[in-house]
Amino acid sequence: MPSFPGPVDSRLPRVGTTIFTVMSRLAAECGAINLSQGFPDFSAPPLLYELVSRHMHAGHNQYAPMAGTVQLREAIAGKVESLCGARYDPEHEITVTAGATQALFTAVTCLVRPGDEVIVFEPVYDCYVPAIELCGATAVRATLRHPGYRPDWAEVRRLVTRRTRLIMVNTPHNPSGAVWSEEDLRALAAIVRGTSIAVVADEVYEHIVFDGLRHESCARHPDLRERSLIVSSFGKTYHVTGWKVGYVLAPRELSAEFRKVHQFVVFTVNTPVQLALAEYLAEPSRYLELSAFYQRKRDLFRQGLAASRLQLLPCQGTYFQLASYQAISDEPDLALAERLTRTAGVASIPVSAFYGEPRQDRVLRFCFAKGDDTLARACERLARL
Ligand SMILES: Cc1ncc(COP(=O)(O)O)c(C=O)c1O
Repeated sequence: MPSFPGPVDSRLPRVGTTIFTVMSRLAAECGAINLSQGFPDFSAPPLLYELVSRHMHAGHNQYAPMAGTVQLREAIAGKVESLCGARYDPEHEITVTAGATQALFTAVTCLVRPGDEVIVFEPVYDCYVPAIELCGATAVRATLRHPGYRPDWAEVRRLVTRRTRLIMVNTPHNPSGAVWSEEDLRALAAIVRGTSIAVVADEVYEHIVFDGLRHESCARHPDLRERSLIVSSFGKTYHVTGWKVGYVLAPRELSAEFRKVHQFVVFTVNTPVQLALAEYLAEPSRYLELSAFYQRKRDLFRQGLAASRLQLLPCQGTYFQLASYQAISDEPDLALAERLTRTAGVASIPVSAFYGEPRQDRVLRFCFAKGDDTLARACERLARL
C-alpha cells in the first residue's frame, strides 16, 4: 500500500469523521433503529421517480446550464413569489446547487476572506465552521441557550465588529427544532442595517413548521432580502436527501459572486433530476402538505415517549426531536448515545456534537422522519429506559 511521503499539514486539523456518519455506522453494526442521521426511511411518491426516468429516457443527460435549468429556476421563482411575495429573477438571482451543503460552502467561500469574522449560532450545523475556517476566517459563536434555544439579540449585537463579514442563520433550526419569529428577523435586520454584513440563511426545513407557525424567510423581509443568500434543499422537502439538489436565492450582485465560485466547484447539477423537480414543483400541495405530514409524526413520536423518563423539549419545526435525559443518566451525551445504540437498539445524535467547546446539557437528538412502525418500535425501546 503506497503512503504519502512526509507529514500531511491538515487544513482542518480538528475535524474527524462527522458524528452523523459515526452514529449511522454504529447503528448499522448493532442492528439498531437509526434515529440519528436526518433522512427519511420512506420513499417519495412514485411520480417523482417516473419523472426523472422519463427525462433520462428522453435524452436529457448532458450538462445543464451552469446556474440550473431554466425550467427549475422558473419553478423556484414561482414558488418563492407565491409564498413570500418576493420576486427573484430566475436569470440572475436563482442558482441550482448540489444540495444545501455545497450552497453553504460556496456562499461562504465567495464572500469571506482571511481575517474576517463570521457569526454563527451555537448549537451549529456541522458544515458551517469548517467552511469559514478554510477561508482563513474566524467563526464567532452566538448562543442559542438550552432549553429554549432562542437567539439573544443583545449578545449578537455585542459580537459584531468591523471584521464581521457574514452572519449565518438557520431557521427552522437543526438540531433544536426552534423556529424564528418575525421579531427575530426584525432584530437581525436592525443589527445589520447600515453595515455591509451579508446574511447566509439556511432554510432547508422551510416547509416543515408546526402548530400553525409560519416559516419566516429572509426573503419576506425587504431589509434582509437585499443582503441575504437564502439556501434551501429539495432533499428535505421531497424525501430524497440522496439526490443532493438545492438552490440559492440572492440579489444579482451576490448571485454573480456566488456563481463565480459555483462554476468551479460543481459547474452544474444533474440534468434529469432538475427537470423532474421543475415539473414536480408545479403542484404546491406537494410542499404545502409537508408540515401536516411531519406534525403527525412528531405527535406520534412524542405520544410514544410521553411515559418514558426522557424529557421532551419543544419542537416547532424540522424533523428532529430533542430530549433531555437528566432523569436517566449523568453520562456525557456521546457515551449515552453510543450505549443506547448498543444496548437499547436506538441510535440518536449527542447534541454536544453541535458545539465547538465540549458542553453537556444532557440532550439527545432523535430524527422522526421514519415510518410509523419504526417510530413505534423505537418508542417502545426508549420507554424502557
Ligand atoms: C440545517 C441543515 N443545513 C444543510 C443541510 C444539508 O442539506 P443537503 O443534504 O441538501 O446538502 C442539512 C442536512 O441535514 C441541515 O440539517
